[in-house]
Parts: sequence; structure tokens; C-alpha cells
Amino acid sequence: MFGKVLTTALLLEGPSLLVAGFPHIAEMVEKQRLESRIAPIAPFPEFPGAPSHATYNSFDAASQLVSTSGDHAWIAPGPGDKRGPCAGLNAAANHGYLQRNGIVDSDSINTGLWEAFGLDKTATIFLETATRFFDGDPVSGKWSIGTHSDATSSLGALGNVLGNETGICAYGHLKTEGDASITRGDWLAPTMNSNCESYPVFAQELEDLAVSMTGGNITPQVLAQHSSNRKAYSVANNPNYFSPAYAGIAFTFGAHMFAYELLANHSAEDPRGVLTPEVFESFFSYTRDSNNNMVFTFGHERIPDNWYKRADDDAWTLEDILLSTAQQCASYPSNCQVGGNTGTVNSFSGVDLGDISGGFINSVSDLSDPVRMGCFISQAIQADVPSFLDNVFNGAALTAATALIPTDLVPALAGLGSCPNLPAGKSVSEYSAPFPGALFANSGPRSGLDLNG
Ligand code: HEM
Ligand SMILES: *[C@@H]1O[C@H](CO)[C@@H](O)[C@H](O)[C@H]1NC(C)=O
Ligand SMILES: *[C@@H]1O[C@H](CO)[C@@H](O)[C@H](O)[C@H]1NC(C)=O
Repeated sequence: MFGKVLTTALLLEGPSLLVAGFPHIAEMVEKQRLESRIAPIAPFPEFPGAPSHATYNSFDAASQLVSTSGDHAWIAPGPGDKRGPCAGLNAAANHGYLQRNGIVDSDSINTGLWEAFGLDKTATIFLETATRFFDGDPVSGKWSIGTHSDATSSLGALGNVLGNETGICAYGHLKTEGDASITRGDWLAPTMNSNCESYPVFAQELEDLAVSMTGGNITPQVLAQHSSNRKAYSVANNPNYFSPAYAGIAFTFGAHMFAYELLANHSAEDPRGVLTPEVFESFFSYTRDSNNNMVFTFGHERIPDNWYKRADDDAWTLEDILLSTAQQCASYPSNCQVGGNTGTVNSFSGVDLGDISGGFINSVSDLSDPVRMGCFISQAIQADVPSFLDNVFNGAALTAATALIPTDLVPALAGLGSCPNLPAGKSVSEYSAPFPGALFANSGPRSGLDLNG
């Protein structure tokens, strides 16, 4: 099963004892690590997704200006309000495009993310449904955009005994949230290990990469390279790094594309959008200290004033997510390996894709076909959902949640493709054994549980 052991970037390990005693050496080693990168084997497109985006040339100020006043004024989250690893959901909640308490449902996601960002319903219906089953309560229809909340349960606080929904942060790890994020930590890394908090070193790395590639603005090509760099960094620094099929290959990369496609500012001069470092910092809750260093404040993500979302007839769709994720696999094949480190750094072992997909996918290059990518994601979600639900719910609550798989979850996967005769795939729990970072846990001494109460 683990016959195909694939190696990714093997970055030089510094002598760690020496490093611990001499912080400036640690910094130097860190810098070297950040600078080592794997170049794409085929260029990642300047305009990923459907070809129509590359030539889109219209702008309508009235429909594209996003309100940041009145009902949509920015208000910082209060005590008990949930915020988490997603810059977009946090910003939308801070501006009332989603529930300000961070407990969301299909209505608010499908309406709010269209109004605020131009994320098409084909995408939100799929993402919301998968997240509701993975991280929320399929019966109440609610999930937390941060850590666990009693408010997502159909049974209220008492329901925790029958089901303790994780939310997308902390114990939601490897369901929707994954390692090697744009700026969030790997949850089981030795340091910088909140999977909800953003770390300035990674945000600065992205901005520095943008300077070297474009002069400063953040583009899809910068983000694709950053994604590859972040995975190489995790392989070289996190003994517990793990990348499952959905959270690791599709979702994390999908978020990398969202950072440009949904956060760039549009105008008549730049109808395809521009993402300056300033706009990025506002959306990612960064300010500058007196030395001009980046400072992250948890949960203060903000839609800038005078910001114009993408045009309605140029929306980012589920098809765009599949196309760009497949384009990633063509440019950065090592990004598309399922697998992880086996307890030490630089021990990445790839899982045999043929084995976990019932022979449907046989190599990473199969994943550069967007049709196969869609079916691979659908297969992974259907394989994982029963065990994810089983980890969270008991008794009658488990029965009720499981009963909704055929009626609520499966129809929402239709947008991933029709996939005739798709064999059953394997769930993460069936291939996690060699990977300490792949073992699910519901409690333990882990980081980031206390964010926003
Ligand atoms: C139903 C819709 C959505 C869900 C369920 C969702 C969930 C998530 C999750 C779980 C992460 C963490 C991923 C990781 O570990 O790498 C994430 C990250 C991210 N999301 Fe979302 N998201 C949604 C919509 C959006 C939208 C609309 C935007 C942009 C407007 C967005 C932008 C981002 C960005 C930029 C990150 C990366 C943050 C970082 O690594 O610092 N997301 N999202
Ligand atoms: C529910 O899970 C959270 C962590 O996600 C934990 O803090 C809490 O104690 C759990 N509650 C119950 C009743 O198990
Ligand atoms: C977006 O672009 C327009 C046109 O260039 C500009 O007037 C506006 O200030 C920009 N918005 C932000 C937040 O940078």
C-alpha cells in the first residue's frame, strides 16, 4: 500500500541544538528554509480556472462596490463570537454578511458569500454542505466558523453528550482545515501550531515572494508557488505533517486561490483584479508596528472601504475550483501527493493513490484532469463522512445525522461531476496508520482551543 514512496523537497536540516542556543542562527536557518523552493514543472496559469476569466474586461462600480457601512459596518467580534482560520468567513462575519456570532448555516453562506465576494452558488452549496457534515450538525444545519460551539447542536448544550461538533478550527483538523495553509499553523507542529491563528512569518514570506515575482502584488502564480513552498516547509519542519485527499490537496489549495480570486480589488483599469499587500493585510487582519513589522490580531479581518468584488458575470465557481486545483497538480505534482511525514521531519511517505481510490486515480498526473479531480474529491468525501460523523456523534444523534447523507450530502456533490461507476474510496482512517499527524483526536493538550471562548 505504501509502495510508492515519493519524496518532496528535502530541505537541509539545521543542527537543532546549536540553533536553540543562538537565535540569530535560527533565523538564518529559517531564512534558508523559506528561500528553498521547488519551481513549477509547467507554468501555473496567470489566470487559473475557466479560460473566460483571462479575457474578462467589464466593470460595474455600482454592483461591484461592497458595502462596509450601515448593516455592513465592521464590528470586532465580541466575547463568545467565533472566528477561525478562514479570512473570508471571518471578514464576512465582521461585516454582517454572515451571522456576527460566527454560527452559520446554508442560507447565510449561500447569500452572504455571493454578496460580499462573488463566490458562485455552485461553490458555496458544495462547500457549505461538506462543511456542515464534517464540522457541524447536519440536523440543526449549523456550524461554527471557529472552534466548537454549543450553539451548533440541534439539542443545545445538553447535546454535547450525543454529539460534540468541532467547528472548522482546532479539532476540525484534517476534515476541512489542513496543514500548510497560507498563513495558519500546522496543528501538530512543534511550534507555531494553532491551526486558527495566522503567523506573521508566513504572511511576510508571501509578501516577500510577491515582491520577488511581481514587484509586490499578490497573484495566482505567487499563491501557487507559496502553496508549494508551504508544503515543503511543513515536510521539513513538522514531524506530524499530513495531507489527506480533501483537506490537503483540494481545500488548502482552494483557499490559496480564494485569496486572490475573491480578495482582489476590481476596477475599470483592472477588471480582472489586483491584490496589493495593503488589501491583503486588511483582509487577513494585519497591521504594522512601529518597526513596520507585520502584527496579526485574531479575528479582526476587514473588508477595506472602496473595495470592488469580482463582477457577477465573472463569478468564481465550483468548476473554477476544480480546474485550478487540477492546474496545481500539473504545475506542482508534489503538492498533490496524499501522505505525510511518519514522525520525523523529511520523512514524507506518499500513499498509493490507486489503492485509496479503488483504481480510479493511479498517479498524481491523473489529478491534473479536472474531471477526475472532481470525482476524486467526491469519492474522498463520501468515504470520510461516515467515520467523521462517527467520531462526533453517538446514539440517536448519530443515526439522525447519518440518515441525512443520501438526502442532503450526496445531492450537493453533484457539482463535482457525474462520475459513473465510481468505485468506493478509502477513508483517511483506513490509511492513517503510518502517519502520527493523521490520527483523529477529540481531546488532548493541543493549541488554540480557547480562541474567542
Ligand atoms: C463555505 C465557504 C467556506 C468555508 C467552509 C471555508 C473554510 C476555510 C477553512 C477550513 C480554511 C482553513 C484552510 C487551511 O487549513 O488551509 C480556510 C482558509 C481560507 N479561506 Fe475559507 N472558507 C470558505 C469561504 C471562503 C471565502 C468566501 C473566502 C474569501 C473571500 C475564503 C478565503 C480563505 C483564505 C484566504 C484562507 C487561508 C487563510 C490562511 O491560511 O491564512 N474562504 N477557509
Ligand atoms: C467538546 O469539544 C471541545 C473541543 O472541541 C471540548 O473543549 C469540550 O470539552 C467538549 N465537550 C464535551 C461535552 O465533550
Ligand atoms: C480599488 O480600486 C479602485 C480603482 O483603482 C480604487 O479607487 C480603490 O481605492 C481601490 N480599493 C482599495 C481598497 O484599494
